[in-house]
Amino acid sequence: MSERSSRFSNTSEPAQTPALPWRGVMLDVARHFVPISEVTRMVDAMALLRLNVLHLHLSDDQGWRFESKTWPRLTDVGAWRDETVVGRPGNYPDGSLHPENHLNAYDGARHGGFYTQAELRGLVAYARDRGVMVVPEIDMPGHMRAARAAYPELGYAPTPLGVGRSWGVYPEVLRVDEDGLAFCTDILGEVLDVFDAPYVHIGGDECPKVEWESSSVARAQQEDLGLGSVADLQRWFTGQIGTFLTSRGRRLVGWDEIIDEGVPDGDPVVMAWRDWTDAAGRATRAGVDVVQAPSLLYLDHSFGMGEGEPLAIGPGADLASVYAYDPYAGLGDSAHLLGLQAQLWSEYIPTAEHLWYMAFPRLVAVADIGWYGADRPPYEEFLAGLPARLQALADLGIGHRPL
Ligand code: ACM
Repeated sequence: MSERSSRFSNTSEPAQTPALPWRGVMLDVARHFVPISEVTRMVDAMALLRLNVLHLHLSDDQGWRFESKTWPRLTDVGAWRDETVVGRPGNYPDGSLHPENHLNAYDGARHGGFYTQAELRGLVAYARDRGVMVVPEIDMPGHMRAARAAYPELGYAPTPLGVGRSWGVYPEVLRVDEDGLAFCTDILGEVLDVFDAPYVHIGGDECPKVEWESSSVARAQQEDLGLGSVADLQRWFTGQIGTFLTSRGRRLVGWDEIIDEGVPDGDPVVMAWRDWTDAAGRATRAGVDVVQAPSLLYLDHSFGMGEGEPLAIGPGADLASVYAYDPYAGLGDSAHLLGLQAQLWSEYIPTAEHLWYMAFPRLVAVADIGWYGADRPPYEEFLAGLPARLQALADLGIGHRPL
């Protein structure tokens, strides 16, 4: 065995320098709540694999998971989903996803939950002791349906809405005037008291502008601000939040939509997920730091084409394809590459057991890309070391898809 491969198979060996500083996992605890004990178990797995950023996706259309002392209905109402779409949601005539397609069946099973601030403080400390930083995400101004269900006035038109029962891109989003900003800075103020990471993720993905376009308040705001279009309100809003976070010593992270109308104020970090839009290239050419989170690293997608696999959101990558991923590809300037991250969206991941099945072994490959970068061992060596590493995960109570 070469010197490198013996290092490679012994993950307890003392530090080498990781190739990439951000080696992350995003856990979507919004679509299906993940008990804190299982989130903690994920931290144990991350420490074993030398992953160092746990990105917690704490809010979405289908659930709000962060206890707020000032906005209690967020969890009283927003943490509970009446039922879940069976199978996949339907499509609009143009093929895009329609979240409330009435041809769909729902399972009638209410579910949900939330984390108290004390639980999250405990998680942050536990993770810190193991070299893992917890980065919270409150998604804004889109993916706000659970918050709108709790507080209808968060929309320009305060229509009563339920927490999302299906997934997709809901048209109901946040108002981005002073009232919407005050809500976000209230919540983020509480988030900053709980999480000590230098980064705070504010989502920013998939925010339809239909409500803003039909709101006289939003159009007047656009004119007052001298913005060219209603869509520019998102860049303005993100800049306001970025400046708020900077003033509190933190840095904004957002999905790559946050630079669609230009780079907002506040020195943001972009999490590049829409690889088909050259998201990472656009960001790095504009001098913006990037975390690569491409569709290949969406581990909620099936292992390969999905034949014989449990229902998933769509086909995905097999282990060899994940291991072959090149995080340096497509960048304007690789000095702006912070790292890479795997995503575990949870619409089709209702249990911890299923979470481990989707995550492993592919997450081991992601961890090694982050640690070794371009200098990683050949795939055959990676495979040879895998059974021992999966056994170490099993010792933590974590399963995996059979090799
Ligand atoms: C995303 O997948 N909407 C970031």
